[in-house]
Order: sequence, then C-alpha cells, then structure tokens
Amino acid sequence: MEENRVVCHCQNIDLKTINEAIATGCKTLEEIQSKTGAGTVCGACVDEINEIIAAKI
Ligand code: FES
Repeated sequence: MEENRVVCHCQNIDLKTINEAIATGCKTLEEIQSKTGAGTVCGACVDEINEIIAAKI
C-alpha cells in the first residue's frame, strides 16, 4: 500500500500517519482516532482503519 495514500479524507490523514500511530503504540480504532483524528468525522474510513490495524497487530 502507498504510504502517502489518504485513508481519511475528512481529516486528510494518510496511511503513513496511521502506520506511525500504530508503531507508537495505538492498538485500537479509538486510540488511532484520538491520536490522529482519523475516523472521527463521517466514519467512512473506519472499516479501512480497522483493516490496517488488523494487518499490523
Ligand atoms: S473519511 Fe475518515 S472520518 Fe470521514
């Protein structure tokens, strides 16, 4: 997956930012949301964020 691909369009959060959040200890959707803001507006990206977490942890 492209690191600079935008995952959350509402907050303009790219895959790299989410990967970094996971690398610094985020293990749940809620932790990613509070650290990056991704997934906190329309929710359309939540499934994808969960898939990214599941693939990494
Ligand atoms: S696309 Fe992520 S909250 Fe809307």
